[in-house]
Amino acid sequence: MTMAEIVDVTDQNFESEVLKSDKPVIIDFWAEWCAPCKQIAPVIKELAEQYGDRIKIAKMDIDSNPGTPGQYGIRAIPTILSFKDGQVVEEFVRFHPAFAYMRRTATRDTELSGAEIKAGDKLALWYVSGNRDEKAFDNPDYFDVRRDPNPHQGFGGGGRHFCLGAGLARLELKLWIEETLKRFETIEPDGECERLSSTFLNQWYSMPVRLT
Ligand code: HEM
Repeated sequence: MTMAEIVDVTDQNFESEVLKSDKPVIIDFWAEWCAPCKQIAPVIKELAEQYGDRIKIAKMDIDSNPGTPGQYGIRAIPTILSFKDGQVVEEFVRFHPAFAYMRRTATRDTELSGAEIKAGDKLALWYVSGNRDEKAFDNPDYFDVRRDPNPHQGFGGGGRHFCLGAGLARLELKLWIEETLKRFETIEPDGECERLSSTFLNQWYSMPVRLT
């Protein structure tokens, strides 16, 4: 086990500590008054103990540092984000989000692009469609690993239901890509893919590939 070092990040040192870090960074946005933040604090400490030599574990107090959370659209805490060469990962999640939609219930009357929504209405949020919205993305059907900005909703659109595992999922995808590319130069399709039959899960049972 390594030393459990958790770096305190501020609006001022966010760029040097996070954006320019040579290691991947997992950052926990928290506040003194937030009880769920206290509940996940031991998990963050454990992450620092286990992975501190490879990943920088950081936290930011959103009350003292309002700038960065505003910039990243953080509307609920605790929120955990990961940073490091994230563009490729974001494009994977935009292009093929793991979930086709989530169903939510409107809490009040509103209007969305001309559609009237009443409190209590049940709504399907189609991430597969939103992520290809031509008003939000140039050439949306093109898989572009350099797409930046990439305001996809593959982990949700923000707010209290935003994917709790987004930081972990981003890190797993990043490590999978990095470690595969270290060993192989090319990945090619190699056989029939078997798609999971579901309207909710936008996933595959198997996808044979040849690595060379
Ligand atoms: C690429 C992988 C993943 C994708 C695309 C994904 C996507 C999503 C989406 C779309 C939501 C709903 C967001 C909303 O309604 O605003 C969600 C919620 C959630 N996700 Fe993920 N997720 C992924 C991986 C994970 C992992 C690895 C974990 C756990 C370790 C996780 C845990 C959760 C939990 C607990 C929620 C519910 C949060 C709530 O309702 O408050 N997810 N995820």
